[in-house]
Amino acid sequence: MVVSLETVNMLRMLSSTTTFFYLLIPAISLYYLYYRLSKRRMFELLSKIEGPSGLPLLGNALEFIGDPHTTFKILYERSFEFKFGEPLKLWIGPRPVIFLTDPRDIEVILSSHVHIDKSPEYRFFQPWLGNGLLISTGEKWRAHRKLIAPTFHLNVLKSFINVFNKNSRAIVERMRKEGPKDFDIHEYMGEATVEILLETAMGVDKGTQNTEAGEYVTSVMKMCDILHLRHRQVWFRPEIIFQFTKYAKAQERFLNIIHGLTDKVLKVKKSEFLQKKKTMLETESELEIFQKTEKAEVKLEEIKSKKLEEPSIGLSYGQSVGLKDDLDDDIGEKKRQAFLDLLIESAENGVVLTDKEVREQVDTIMFEGHDTTAAGSSFFLCMMGVRPDIQEKVIEELDSIFKGSDRLCTFQDTLEMKYLERCLMETLRMYPPVPMIARQIKEEVKMPSTGAVLPSDCTIVIGTFKLHRNPEIYPNPDEFNPDNFLPEKSANRHYYSYIPFSAGPRSCVANSVSSPITGRKYAVLKLKVLLSTILRNFRVVSPKKQNEWQLQADIILKRTDGFRVRLEPRKKPKFVA
Ligand code: HEM
Repeated sequence: MVVSLETVNMLRMLSSTTTFFYLLIPAISLYYLYYRLSKRRMFELLSKIEGPSGLPLLGNALEFIGDPHTTFKILYERSFEFKFGEPLKLWIGPRPVIFLTDPRDIEVILSSHVHIDKSPEYRFFQPWLGNGLLISTGEKWRAHRKLIAPTFHLNVLKSFINVFNKNSRAIVERMRKEGPKDFDIHEYMGEATVEILLETAMGVDKGTQNTEAGEYVTSVMKMCDILHLRHRQVWFRPEIIFQFTKYAKAQERFLNIIHGLTDKVLKVKKSEFLQKKKTMLETESELEIFQKTEKAEVKLEEIKSKKLEEPSIGLSYGQSVGLKDDLDDDIGEKKRQAFLDLLIESAENGVVLTDKEVREQVDTIMFEGHDTTAAGSSFFLCMMGVRPDIQEKVIEELDSIFKGSDRLCTFQDTLEMKYLERCLMETLRMYPPVPMIARQIKEEVKMPSTGAVLPSDCTIVIGTFKLHRNPEIYPNPDEFNPDNFLPEKSANRHYYSYIPFSAGPRSCVANSVSSPITGRKYAVLKLKVLLSTILRNFRVVSPKKQNEWQLQADIILKRTDGFRVRLEPRKKPKFVA
């Protein structure tokens, strides 16, 4: 019998493929057996926690392959198959993820000084935010948090109020040009919050900003899409695969834009810092000479007053004379510095931060500080659009404060916006900009709700979105009801049942430690000035009903269908003097 060369080659190939599979299948089975045995304790504990069943190795990963809105919808709807508030387990690939939605369980994790490490899923942020405050761990996080948190102190923030006013008015004028048509208000909110951040936390004046804010906002949104894709679709997680995808190239492009802006900010501020240092050295030596003369005291006063007249470069962030708010009682005396000034000075002294670390913190604050507030303000305005009855009450309150005048909003005014504040809190309840917070626990932890023990080394997700819609805590949770935040209602609620800014040692730096409800810190203050300025000028109309909104949780909660609204210019109320 004659066998052709082709047949011989085919038989050879078949036999090598067969051998490969003969070896591969036992190898995988052995590895799986080893994995199950070595993680025996983990599997034992997880078997006592409810959750949807999944496929071996892939777990529930196939449920996340849809678009962001579908994934969010499926995840949220499926969660109702299990008892509300009990820990819920999912497998994303070989990694277990446990969702917590009971305030008592959440308190155990968030209030702890031990479970403060972010889960490995945050590592995809690394090329963007490096080891900034959002993802750093251990001593580094502790030291940097201690340094940065005081820069968001109320004393510093009150001095920002005029920057908030100026930018809010500018955005109102820009939105006016949209006329009577529908548009996506998130774009405006994103730009406004970036510009405010640049001017306040970063201390960069308007002239240096140009039009980069819009490009920056879009790039951040697209970066979040890519990160979210890697969270949902496990095969994009390993770097070795991701680097060859089109997403890696897109990521590089977006990061160039994002880092381009932060690099520019740092360059400007560093040169200002050096200039200021030089001026101070010169002033000091001038002082030394005059102090030696008989007229030293007179001259000293002259130099001091000269320093006050010229708004020096270092006194950015509205801390210079003339920008004081009416309640700016103790700014200046307490030498609290605003964010970037402090970081640059620390890096210059070489004590706490390196240049690279400064850049990472700037990227972190720019992201955390703008995308969250842009989403919060957009949801608030859309909510006003679908609830004209509530919008009228907010407008009534604003009219009673401003009495039809066009004057700037003061810090005292923001304290009087009680109803607007309740609407804001209710918006952050129903649409928390950070809908999930993830931690990695390093030791077993018992949950008070069911007594279940969470195994060490797994990802714990605090499901803020679902927690905020627990009917036992918030009756009719899908209905927008600002009265949920009447003082008497809030007083009886578990502290960890309302956590839009997270809670505990790793909560948002812009949050008020003493009270998240009346928090006068950066985010709330900025939002009050921005939103009140908009509602002093317009009524908002929403073309879509609330139940038609399509949500997606790509790190920050958004609307896939866009935050579309229409603005109707308001006629000023007439008041009898
Ligand atoms: C409505 C506005 C805001 C909301 C709802 C919000 C919410 C949050 C939440 C939930 C966290 C915890 C995230 C996590 O653990 O994964 C967080 C962390 C953080 N936020 Fe905010 N935030 C807001 C505004 C801001 C602003 C304006 C800034 C800065 C200017 C800021 C800076 C930060 C930083 C640096 C962290 C990381 C803190 C740490 O890990 O120590 N946030 N924020």
